[in-house]
Amino acid sequence: MADGKVKVGIIGSQFQADIHAASFEIMPHEAEVLAIASPTAGHAAALAKRFGIPRVFTDYREMLKERDIEMVTIAAPNSLHAQMTKDIAAAGKHIVCEKPLAMTIAEGEEMIAAAKRHGVLLMYGEELFFTPKYLKAKEMADSGAFGKVYLVKQSEKHFGPHSAWFWDVNRSGGGALMDLGCHGIAFCYWFLGRAPIKSVYCQMGTYVHGDKTKAEDDSLCILEFANGAIGVVENSWARRGGMDDRIEVFGEDGCTYANLHMGNALPTYSENGYGYAVEKAPTTKGWTYPVFEELWNYGTPQELTHFARCVRGKETPQATGQDGLVVLRAIYASYASAGEGRKVALPYLPPPGVKKPVDLWLNGASREQRAPH
Ligand SMILES: NC(=O)c1ccc[n+]([C@@H]2O[C@H](COP(=O)([O-])OP(=O)(O)OC[C@H]3O[C@@H](n4cnc5c(N)ncnc54)[C@H](O)[C@@H]3O)[C@@H](O)[C@H]2O)c1
Repeated sequence: MADGKVKVGIIGSQFQADIHAASFEIMPHEAEVLAIASPTAGHAAALAKRFGIPRVFTDYREMLKERDIEMVTIAAPNSLHAQMTKDIAAAGKHIVCEKPLAMTIAEGEEMIAAAKRHGVLLMYGEELFFTPKYLKAKEMADSGAFGKVYLVKQSEKHFGPHSAWFWDVNRSGGGALMDLGCHGIAFCYWFLGRAPIKSVYCQMGTYVHGDKTKAEDDSLCILEFANGAIGVVENSWARRGGMDDRIEVFGEDGCTYANLHMGNALPTYSENGYGYAVEKAPTTKGWTYPVFEELWNYGTPQELTHFARCVRGKETPQATGQDGLVVLRAIYASYASAGEGRKVALPYLPPPGVKKPVDLWLNGASREQRAPH
């Protein structure tokens, strides 16, 4: 097995690719980024320059020919995850795939099979498994602080994504639930020791962004787990005021609450504004809540460092393609639930030919539940 730093290539050059590059810069001991691949040459070159990444490609397949690259991270639109994963696996390189895993369950299964066939790791970019504040909550729960946990809630909300493709259901697969609910479902599943998900009840609507997307901009999911606990996952692209991410945990003997951003923020008032407050904050004037060490508090540097250590055989992946597939199955059941206006049991098999999760809601019998504009 090779040693030294794991040599990384990043696919994508914008929002999450920037976070990947910055994360490797924050924790440089286990990995180094050698290349970046993105069809938008200007963006790729700019990102490479900012982080001192030596090689730039406009076609990721060319980057995959670089013999020394060992691990490739995918920070590209959801609709491309499956093909990219299969290509990376065929090139014999380990994969870090951003959430959500794929557009369809069949794609997710093919990705896992491809990684297995080529003997590479398929690691899943769910940083909530590495978020320091949420890890503390889990450590307390696992040590018995709350007795038997009966309810876990996770919520992630903001006023909508930064790039056009998220709003296009053919490239994203769905709206707030697909984009943000994948975090919440993964979180509850992980927090509850990966107990199987028994059923999902989900309600969703498009309240403020009907001019931009056919997808939901707000969703609420209730998940029943086989160990008797309940997960509640709330998501929104309609919530103003920047990113909001929080959890609540309730057990027979106690509870804990964590707000990812507020607890790390400096309550601040400024007439003039300043550089940057927090992800997706619309302004830095007036009252704002700037965070510090934002990426560290999200957990992405720790996540990617862990994945690099897995490539070297020093650790075992804590977030895998299999986790992503469990989440994707629950996402499909959630859209079906919202579409049918009823609780849906898992395992749920979508009807043949469904190309993306949101179709189960868009074509569902209870479509009239969607908010009028
Ligand atoms: N874990 C998280 O919290 C988190 C946060 C944001 C985004 N994401 C995920 O990361 C992925 C990327 O999202 P983003 O916010 O960076 O989007 P973005 O629009 O900011 O960037 C997408 C990038 O993909 C590149 N791209 C498009 N087609 C490509 C192709 N054929 N080959 C190579 N690159 C291509 C674009 O050039 C661009 O650089 C999505 O799956 C998203 O869900 C995860």
